[in-house]
Amino acid sequence: MIQATKKIESTIEKAFKDCGYDEAEVSIKVSDRPDLCDYQSSSALKFAKKYNTEPMKIAEAVAGALDGNAMFEKVEAMKPGFINMTLSGAFLREQVAELSQNAKLWPEGETHPQKTIIDYGGANVAKPLHVGHLRSAVIGESIKRILKYAGNEVTGDVHLGDWGLQMGLIIEQLREEQPDLAYFEKERTRSYPHNPPFTLEDLERMYPIASSRSKTDDSFLKAAQETTRKLQEGYEPYIEIWKHIMVLSKKDLKKNYDSLGVSFDIWKGESDAQPFIPGMIEDLKNRGIAIESQGALVIDVSDENDKKEIPPCIIQKSDGAALYATSDLATIIDRKQNLGAESIIYVADKRQELHFTQVFRSAKKAGYINDQDNLEFIGFGTMNGKDGKPFKTREGGVMRLEHLISDIRSAVYDKIVQGSDISGEELDKTTEIIALAALKYGDLSNQASRDYIFDIDRFTSLEGNTGPYILYTVVRLKSILEKYKTSGGAVPDKSEIGSPLTNKERQLFLKALQAPEILEEAYNKRAPHVICRFVFELSDICNGFYHDTKIITEENEIIKRERLALITVIKDILIECLTLLGIETPERM
Ligand code: ARG
Repeated sequence: MIQATKKIESTIEKAFKDCGYDEAEVSIKVSDRPDLCDYQSSSALKFAKKYNTEPMKIAEAVAGALDGNAMFEKVEAMKPGFINMTLSGAFLREQVAELSQNAKLWPEGETHPQKTIIDYGGANVAKPLHVGHLRSAVIGESIKRILKYAGNEVTGDVHLGDWGLQMGLIIEQLREEQPDLAYFEKERTRSYPHNPPFTLEDLERMYPIASSRSKTDDSFLKAAQETTRKLQEGYEPYIEIWKHIMVLSKKDLKKNYDSLGVSFDIWKGESDAQPFIPGMIEDLKNRGIAIESQGALVIDVSDENDKKEIPPCIIQKSDGAALYATSDLATIIDRKQNLGAESIIYVADKRQELHFTQVFRSAKKAGYINDQDNLEFIGFGTMNGKDGKPFKTREGGVMRLEHLISDIRSAVYDKIVQGSDISGEELDKTTEIIALAALKYGDLSNQASRDYIFDIDRFTSLEGNTGPYILYTVVRLKSILEKYKTSGGAVPDKSEIGSPLTNKERQLFLKALQAPEILEEAYNKRAPHVICRFVFELSDICNGFYHDTKIITEENEIIKRERLALITVIKDILIECLTLLGIETPERM
């Protein structure tokens, strides 16, 4: 499918050439004065100097050359040298029909599809989820879908934090509570329990106790650090406890991610990088890439062009311990060697940017990835409460995802679904879908790197730039089509759309035609918010159209069918875009 914009562009370019301006690299843009024209080109202004002539002269010549071209209703030169284009109804019809017949709204498949790993979610095992993990999951899921849509071969990896101090803390707390467990015997006399000697609730209770104790009780902290070190060295009893923690915790995390509609192709974590670390350290030392500095092993990653200083990447502390960077560097080796990654994209808190800069530079310096490979960091901002401070629950504690979702669910129930004629299972499902849409759209509609305010009231509103508003638009379109069907009509095929007759209808056509370039922009910029802006604008125009235009009540049967075809096109575009955001649509609401 060749996008409408490209077709218009090449037609204009040809007109420039026909008029003798053949070096012209012509560009057009959607007009910001839709009352005057649909598209505008300022290329004549650009070429005037080169051809040593008046811009207006060029613009007039080009407009003249396009006179009678079926693509346009009119082309006008406008002072000081703009070319204003209004598309013909026939061209609009043809283009939207073509778009609607294409399997995807994508202009064309990614010309260089890449084996891509997207690292998102990043929950820490046995530690509470926090809002940053929510953002990583929601943004990462959408970017994963966009990358796949563009034709890449994408693997989503949750990359759990499963190898840190929290494990030592939990094990020490367990020793306190159940000192008689076989794991804690000096000389092993009994076998280890087959079933975990603790529940998920125990873990949830134990971690905060141990974590706060470690902040005041130095000997407890030391013990936890020592235990972590032993675990990381492979001390069997601790590995056995760790395995139990992993099973319980993963099951719970999976439930959490499922309830968010977020899924991963692989469930690896920091622990999976461990087998690569000893060899990696040897290699880095042997080749002189890592050097010793104050007892630690570091890689100098500074660059003469750096505006601010990038400190060396520490890969081993003086006590021999590995760090976050060590594990991320080793994970790159794993992903390159075993998954054939050509592109690795990380979605994490923007405060981790320096860490990723150091890791990426180290990986390049060590040659663990090829020059043409892509390592990319997408940093997101903080989700704040209405007070402008990082979001907390009503009680002031850390967020539990289930509670957050259930708060939104009740707001959605009170404001939207209560009083509708939906009941039973459908009611639950619908409330769930709208709640998730409110949550995800509230997040994704902001540029990821920005902080934003989590405002349940605004997110669940049916008015304004919100998830429920967009869903409501889709549901309205679905219900018109449904009504037509129940009255005995066969919904026309999308190809039956006619040329736009009213101004609102033209706006709808024009907006729909932007879909491919919007998706391309969202892909290039890794920016779900670009899609949000588009679905909002399309919904707005669509609701205006619905308000002003007869559809089912239209007397002229041909026009009625053309309009039904048009709303089918719009509905499908909205659904396709929402799917890329990870948002489902209900049948009714
Ligand atoms: N577990 C980390 C955290 O909670 C996020 C992991 C991000 N991914 C990575 N490969 N480092 O901050």
